[in-house]
Amino acid sequence: MAPVPISSLKVGHLDDIQELSKNQPTTVPDRYIRDESERPTHVSATSPQSSSMQIPVIDLSKLVEGNEDQSQTELSKLASACEEWGFFQVVNHGIHLELLESIEKITMEFFNLPLEEKQKYPMPPGTIQGYGHAFVFSEDQKLDWCNMLALGVEPYYIRNPKLWPTEPVGFSETLETYSTNIRKVCQNLLGFIAMSLGLKQDMFNEMFGVAVQAVRMNYYPPCSRPDLVLGLSPHSDGSALTVLQQGKGSPVGLQILKDNTWVPVQPVPNALVINIGDTIEVLTNGKYKSVEHRAVTHKEKDRLSIVTFYAPSYEIELFPLPELVDENSPILYRRYNHGEYSRHYVTNKLQGKKTLDFAKIQNNVSS
Ligand code: OGA
Ligand code: NI
Repeated sequence: MAPVPISSLKVGHLDDIQELSKNQPTTVPDRYIRDESERPTHVSATSPQSSSMQIPVIDLSKLVEGNEDQSQTELSKLASACEEWGFFQVVNHGIHLELLESIEKITMEFFNLPLEEKQKYPMPPGTIQGYGHAFVFSEDQKLDWCNMLALGVEPYYIRNPKLWPTEPVGFSETLETYSTNIRKVCQNLLGFIAMSLGLKQDMFNEMFGVAVQAVRMNYYPPCSRPDLVLGLSPHSDGSALTVLQQGKGSPVGLQILKDNTWVPVQPVPNALVINIGDTIEVLTNGKYKSVEHRAVTHKEKDRLSIVTFYAPSYEIELFPLPELVDENSPILYRRYNHGEYSRHYVTNKLQGKKTLDFAKIQNNVSS
C-alpha cells in the first residue's frame, strides 16, 4: 500500500512532537493544551500520600517455583493486586536483563532516527500500526505529547511487514525475541490469574486460542509545560493483559486512577508493569477491573515505554464466566465477539473507560 501523505489526513497536519520539542519552545501549541479539568494536577513522587500508595509487587519466581507456602502467599497477593489495583509490577519474571536492555536501546535508536526515516512507516488513518499519532479522529481533538511506533506481532497474519523498521539494523530480530519472551510471561501470569480466581490454571490460555499480541513503543519528549499537556490520554486497555517496560532512568510518568486519585507508578528497577485489560474485566464480570490510566510528561527528561498488549484471538466470543456470576454478582456484560470489540476500540478516541460501554448491559451503563 502506498504511504498515506500526512496532508491527506482528515485531522489536518500533525506536527512531529519530537521535532517540535528539539527547539525547546516555551509555549506549547494549542492542540496539546488540555482543558482545565484534564490537566495533570501535580502529585509529588516523594509525598507521604503517594509513597504509601504503591502498586503491589509480585515475585513471579515464587509462583513458578516457590514452595507451597510461598506460592500460596504470592497467589493471594496477586488476587488482591488484581482486585484492588488492576495493576502490579512483576519482579523475577525470568526475562534476561540483557534482553530488556537491548529492546530499550534499539527502540531509542529508532526514535532518534531522522524524521524522514521514521516517516517511511506512517500510521494509516484509522489504524494503530506504524509511526505517528494513534487515536486521532477530529480536528478539534486534543493531542497527546507522545510519539508512537505500534506494530502487530502475533499471529503472523496481523503483521504489516512494510511497517517493521529496517533501521536500526536488528530491530525486527530484537523485537521478535523480546515478544516471544513477553508472551511466555503473559501465559504464565494468565495461568496464575485464573488460579487466583479459583479457576483451572489453563482456563484463559485455552480459551484465548492463538492469542493476539501487539507492541506499542511510546516516546515522550520533554515538555516545557508538563502542567498543561498529557503524554497519553486516560484510557483502559482493550487487551486481556498489558505488559509495560519503562526505560531505565525514565522519570515517573504512568499514573493510574485509584479511588478517584491519579496515583503515579514508581518504577522498580527491571520490573515489568502489568495491568488487567478489558477482556479480563468482562470474563471476571468486573471482579478484576481494567483500571483507567494515563501518562504525564516531564519538563527536562524524556521517557520511553515499551508496551505489549496480549489479547484473545479475534474470533473468540467473550462473556462473563458463569463461575463469576451469581445473585451477589449479577451479570454486567453481554456476550460479544472480541474482533468486533478490537475494531470498536481502535476506531474510537481514548476516552477513559467509555470504550467498554460497548459490552455493558444497558441497565449498568451509568454505573
Ligand atoms: C499504553 C499505556 C502508558 C505509558 O500504551 O496503553 O498505557 O506509560 N502507556 O506509556
Ligand atoms: Ni494503556
